Amino acid sequence: MLASLQVLLAAARAGGYAVGAFNVYNLEGVRAVIGAAEALRSPVILQVHPSALAHGGTPLLALCREAAQQAAVPVAVHLDHATSASAIREALAAGVTSVMADGSHLAYADNLAFTREAVALARAHGAGVEAELGRLSGTEDGLSVPEYAACLTDPAQAAEFVAGTGVDALAVCIGNVHGTYRGEPRLDMARLAAIRQAVPVPLVLHGASGLPAALIAQAIALGVCKFNVNTEVRAAYLAALREGLQAAPSAELLPLLQRAVAAMQAVVADKLRLFGSAGKA
Ligand code: 13P
Repeated sequence: MLASLQVLLAAARAGGYAVGAFNVYNLEGVRAVIGAAEALRSPVILQVHPSALAHGGTPLLALCREAAQQAAVPVAVHLDHATSASAIREALAAGVTSVMADGSHLAYADNLAFTREAVALARAHGAGVEAELGRLSGTEDGLSVPEYAACLTDPAQAAEFVAGTGVDALAVCIGNVHGTYRGEPRLDMARLAAIRQAVPVPLVLHGASGLPAALIAQAIALGVCKFNVNTEVRAAYLAALREGLQAAPSAELLPLLQRAVAAMQAVVADKLRLFGSAGKA
């Protein structure tokens, strides 16, 4: 069933677990995410990055919405990392249940104004809004932020930002990165605790691929209610296609796609268990 971001995150916060948000590009991704969630009786979030939206257009969002409606568990449909009001408008009109207004590349005052505009647009559709303060380094779908341009979330500024925008969730930058971690991931848990003290809304951690179980558990205990996962699922998809083609170069398409769905579903299921959301739907 289609669910809102706000309801999923409120339940996660009350229940001491987090909801996984998985980037999808096509039908196989959607099947993998919902298949894992249904098998584990877990709520889940399907999210579409603007690069994937540029590729799939509103039919991709319609696919997500239809699959969410048919699912046996609560599924939210979320626009990830939107940097323009026009992308937010397009996605809301296509029926997403929430958007991420990503003004993290902007100066603070401009991020505030952009996020306020996103909240006004979303409210007209009854949709939720996630925003980001601080800036994440790393790469996702061709968009890169170098380490020198990244900066960590300031707890006092985060409190002011959340109060000034009315967002439903805040993505934090505490050492997390998009893509692959170089060496052991290190998260600034003291900063996360301070943000949690200062900010009343559920917190979001991007770049959850490659985070070990202990860090995930600690982050949940310190207020993270949504983890974003892309790289590991995408890698499983590509590896399954590559291995399938290597094993049988003239393989039929459908068995190859089914193999890819199974590989992605296994990764998603692992994450749902780590996030503690299995059995919560
Ligand atoms: P990873 O690709 O590092 O898992 O990050 C995904 C993400 O944060 C999407 O917004």
